[in-house]
Amino acid sequence: MIFILFTSIFLQREREREGETMESTSYLRFSFILFIILFLLALSWYPLSKPGLLDCSQPVSWCTSKNRIYAKLGSILETQVPESKNHLVETPHHPLDPLTIQEINKVRAIISSYAPFSSSPAIHYVSLEEPEKSWVLSWKKGDPLPPRKATVIALLNGQSHLLLVDLDLGRVSSHAIDEGSGYPILSMDDISVALQVAMSNADFNKSIIARGVEFSDLACITPSAGWYGPNEEGRRVIRVQCFSSQGTPNFYMRPIEGLTVTVDIDRKEVVKISDKGRGIPVPKGENTDYRYSTQEKPLEMEPLNPISIEQPKGPSFKIEDGHMVKWANWAFHLKADHRAGMVISRAMVRDSETGELRSVMYKGFSSELFVPYMDPDESWYFKTYMDAGEFGMGVTAMSLVPLNDCPRYSYYMDGVFVDSNGKPYVQPNMICVFERYAGDIGWRHSETPFTGSETREARPKVTLVARMAASVGNYDYIFDWEFQTDGLIRVKVGLSGMLMVKGTPYQNVYQVPQDQNDMTGSLVSENVIGVVHDHFITFHLDMDIDGSNNSFVEVNLVKEETLPGESPRKSYLKAKRNVAKTENDARIKLKLYDPSEFHVVNPSRRSRLGNPAGYKVVPAGNAASLLDLHDPPQLRGAFTNNQIWVTPYNKTEQWAGGLLAYQSKGEDTLAVWSERNRPIENKDIVLWYTLGFHHIPCQEDFPVMPTVSSSFDLKPVNFFESNPILRAMPNFEKDLPVCGSAASS
Ligand SMILES: *[C@@H]1O[C@H](CO)[C@@H](O)[C@H](O)[C@H]1NC(C)=O
Ligand SMILES: *[C@@H]1O[C@H](CO)[C@@H](O)[C@H](O)[C@H]1NC(C)=O
Ligand SMILES: *[C@@H]1O[C@H](CO)[C@@H](O)[C@H](O)[C@H]1NC(C)=O
Repeated sequence: MIFILFTSIFLQREREREGETMESTSYLRFSFILFIILFLLALSWYPLSKPGLLDCSQPVSWCTSKNRIYAKLGSILETQVPESKNHLVETPHHPLDPLTIQEINKVRAIISSYAPFSSSPAIHYVSLEEPEKSWVLSWKKGDPLPPRKATVIALLNGQSHLLLVDLDLGRVSSHAIDEGSGYPILSMDDISVALQVAMSNADFNKSIIARGVEFSDLACITPSAGWYGPNEEGRRVIRVQCFSSQGTPNFYMRPIEGLTVTVDIDRKEVVKISDKGRGIPVPKGENTDYRYSTQEKPLEMEPLNPISIEQPKGPSFKIEDGHMVKWANWAFHLKADHRAGMVISRAMVRDSETGELRSVMYKGFSSELFVPYMDPDESWYFKTYMDAGEFGMGVTAMSLVPLNDCPRYSYYMDGVFVDSNGKPYVQPNMICVFERYAGDIGWRHSETPFTGSETREARPKVTLVARMAASVGNYDYIFDWEFQTDGLIRVKVGLSGMLMVKGTPYQNVYQVPQDQNDMTGSLVSENVIGVVHDHFITFHLDMDIDGSNNSFVEVNLVKEETLPGESPRKSYLKAKRNVAKTENDARIKLKLYDPSEFHVVNPSRRSRLGNPAGYKVVPAGNAASLLDLHDPPQLRGAFTNNQIWVTPYNKTEQWAGGLLAYQSKGEDTLAVWSERNRPIENKDIVLWYTLGFHHIPCQEDFPVMPTVSSSFDLKPVNFFESNPILRAMPNFEKDLPVCGSAASS
């Protein structure tokens, strides 16, 4: 939800300003280049390990390990470095493949010679304009690609420009100025501008000095401003809040409380400084470091022996042409996206009886991530982030850590994104794909002795996971799309990273007055409050069950009562099917005491028994927004007013919080589109599901949060004729490799 940059960069810049002037992004670029150089060095230093070549029958070194719990690793890179890909020579193979570096450079060239943009606009988003769905559906491997187009969002003189660039024709083919209230996703330049403006402000300087914090220890973040009425309309504003990084890399735990600078990004000026937390000490830095290399003593528990999956023949999945994932009975297209993070398209599953590859989902991705904090305080009320639309979940997804974020034999996929000058850059190893065996059971049955049978049948469950982790400032969001051979897709979101904390004068709960109402969260350390907050992740799920024309069916469980004398029973449950006619019928709030199943079916594709082929969305743990519907953040986050919505497919309705979400008033949200109450029966429909979390922090969340997860499933219902993994093979001892430890060999 926020970006940080250490102020030393800007201080250094200030010093250089008198001599040579450097562009604001030079340092960013410099650090990026430095990173790439280090990365390449690391690559050349450590040999790439090729999966599938290791012989598990011999006591090879990879089966041994030193005392890994206590041995400090010099660098995490020692473990395994994924193969790098040469993006410069990349060409698209599939209509949905993301723009390549060459294509992005071409977009840039076209825009730079586009007359209305003679004074260079700031580029906020460049992405493939996906071809019409009908085109993609009829495309087959080997066919020529449909025309490649790019959608570009640029800011010029405070206005948002939406462009369509035709790469084949080499020109801008459409150009519109958005008249709505919202602005595009922030760029890195916006963030550095905001920080520089705050840093060079004399009043801010005084406030920092008054708090006793050295300028060189400042680490600042840029919370988005949200929208709270006319005061800040018509200009792009952002907040700057700072922390002390003195003595810790985890500056998030050392807030300079109550000091908020509001910056006008485009005018590059301070709008307001609010400094109301002078009595609140900056929390101490001790015990906030979470890095392995600095931990002074081992964990008080019995150390675990090394554990890892062994795949001596390599993994069973294939990645074709860079983006097509094929595994077991699944095939889907996978790509990185600046805003959504990870996009799954054309997910198809092979019919276990006929071998037919059948469509399940045209496109699935996290469309918006709404995070309202529950504190009306002047320095907190605006913290109601829309992380996808304000910051982007792809650009904030950093390289995954091999063997820790993803197991051995993972395939790593890069993101190719665009900076504010329109230049492409590579986000290496941003997504990983791997097979998971977590010791779970695919299906089983045992007979008990009294049936006279000794049947023991069980099948192991192996799944395929596509994962990325967005670090949107302090928080880390781990997104998993997990595919099972029985046709189920589990979409899981894990939360980790740092709490957004508030400074307080209180050191322990005994000091907190009984009638206090400034405690908007829990004390998680001395002088540190973890403020109560929510997370809502809204998924766009364009289900296409055996084709595009689908219906949404609510299968409601209702209590039936027996007539007197009819049965010893008084009541029983009955499933009643209600086919949604219009969007109104498909706005669902989950209810424990009035439960339903939610099916997407293809009414014209029937099983041999006549049941329509379908998939159901199966909620797991969830949470609803309890904010007032007229509260400004909830107007913008109105797509969380229901857990399920269904809309007719419309190519432009992708982003639940609106295309231009920054500071928007909520006039372009899923809730607004749904108001049109369009027909959705036997139509191409999109299912929207919101996964929510309430978070009341506790001490275990300090200084870094153990991962908390929740998920939902997309599960076949009458899609297959019978259990699709009936004939799956069990595991046999002789088929599984065993690696001995060095001691036992
Ligand atoms: C802050 O103010 C002090 C004295 O008023 C000055 O020496 C210092 O350079 C200022 N720092 C910045 C970053 O402007
Ligand atoms: C979907 O239904 C529409 C009518 O609502 C029809 O025109 C169209 O041909 C159908 N498409 C398919 C693929 O069956
Ligand atoms: C598609 O959605 C946009 C945005 O909601 C709307 O303006 C447009 O009219 C829609 N198109 C159709 C065909 O409904």
